[in-house]
Amino acid sequence: MIKSYIWSSFTRVFHIILVISVGLVFILAEFDKLLSWHAAIGFTIGLLFVYRILWGFMDVKYSKFKDFNFNLHDLQEYIFNVFTDKKKYVGHNPASSWAIVAMIALGLGSVFTGIVVYGTQEGMGILSFLNISLFKDMDFFEDVHELFANSFMAVIFIHIAGVLLDRVLHSSKAIESMIGGYKESDATSLKLTFFQRVFGVVWIGTSIFFFLYLLANPSNLLIADANTPVDYKKEHTLFFNECKSCHTLYPPYLLPKQSWVKMMDNLENHFGDDASLEASDKEFIKYYLVQNAAENSTKESAFKILKSIKDEEIIAITKTPYWKRRHSEIDKSIFTSKEIAAASNCKACHQNIEQGLLNDKDIKIPEIAKG
Ligand code: HEC
Ligand code: HEC
Repeated sequence: MIKSYIWSSFTRVFHIILVISVGLVFILAEFDKLLSWHAAIGFTIGLLFVYRILWGFMDVKYSKFKDFNFNLHDLQEYIFNVFTDKKKYVGHNPASSWAIVAMIALGLGSVFTGIVVYGTQEGMGILSFLNISLFKDMDFFEDVHELFANSFMAVIFIHIAGVLLDRVLHSSKAIESMIGGYKESDATSLKLTFFQRVFGVVWIGTSIFFFLYLLANPSNLLIADANTPVDYKKEHTLFFNECKSCHTLYPPYLLPKQSWVKMMDNLENHFGDDASLEASDKEFIKYYLVQNAAENSTKESAFKILKSIKDEEIIAITKTPYWKRRHSEIDKSIFTSKEIAAASNCKACHQNIEQGLLNDKDIKIPEIAKG
């Protein structure tokens, strides 16, 4: 049989890059410390898809949306006849036509909602200005982002299952054609115009460049961390001097108002120590702590700590369910090691906590403490 050229090299390279990036973005979602990588790959997937949409409106045989088969009747027939002798399609069959459009829509949806979560919850990236109290309890955005991402993954699995089934049942050569570009058929071969070739080079070239640029410039607008360090000494000298003398200076946003009030009204008996102050100084610090307590903060950890406390009268950060959950995987012996001494010694692992920063990327368990 004769062979026809069906998939251009740009389509195929795009496909391979997409497979790798989507795989990576899902794996990286599990590692908080690599959040900026997750974001950089997410942006790249978004860009790749935008180009793919434009490509679909160009007159590229088999790849243009006009050559897709969206006929529902054909789709039904295709699915019902999967196990028997089904009609052969040179370009996209009805199932893959729908799958591709669904993947583009869900993929772009995941990217947009990801940008929103990154901005509202983490105070990072291009939407970091949305890290305001209005959106701080927006677990909702995260749920929507996960819904998009998981649906995207589900369609990918269906797509892969379909391709494998087609191979087993009909010894289809779809996989080979996505690598080599050719299919056994006497259909018209694809031929790209000069402009389409230039577009293809720009598509792949700028996407790779964009990704490398994001990685090499962590402070660029799209993924930058907009959480700025707080100079507590300047903001409240008395708080800084008094509350840093015995331990880490805990940022006020790590406890709710009522915890600070309860703690400050009982400084004589402060975790077994006497930390008492003159009444006016005490009130002065208490006021500052309450003003900046978890309820009034847009930090992700503030919101999560607050949400985890169920009207218990907790006054230690390390006693909050959220803190316990986030540190449950750390071996007890690390906390009691000579270098750290106590769980309350946050700054041993969170280097910038005394500047009010608790970002995932700054977490570091000292090597020596690991024994
Ligand atoms: C005289 C020493 C001393 C001073 C001054 C002091 N503390 Fe403490 N603080 C302690 C001790 C001791 C603990 C218990 C640490 C532990 O459990 O490992 C503690 C624990 C805490 C905790 C709980 C940490 C945890 O385990 O989550 C908070 C919050 C806290 N202090 C806030 C303050 C604030 C706010 C001030 C300033 C008004 C202050 N402390 C001043 C000695 C002090
Ligand atoms: C022995 C090192 C260590 C100490 C001490 C420690 N942490 Fe952590 N902390 C970690 C690690 C590791 C993680 C990340 C766990 C994970 O990946 O889920 C973490 C996570 C967190 C998070 C979640 C970060 C986020 O983005 O929401 C918060 C908040 C936090 N720690 C606060 C504290 C506070 C407050 C203290 C002191 C009272 C403290 N930690 C003491 C190691 C430590």
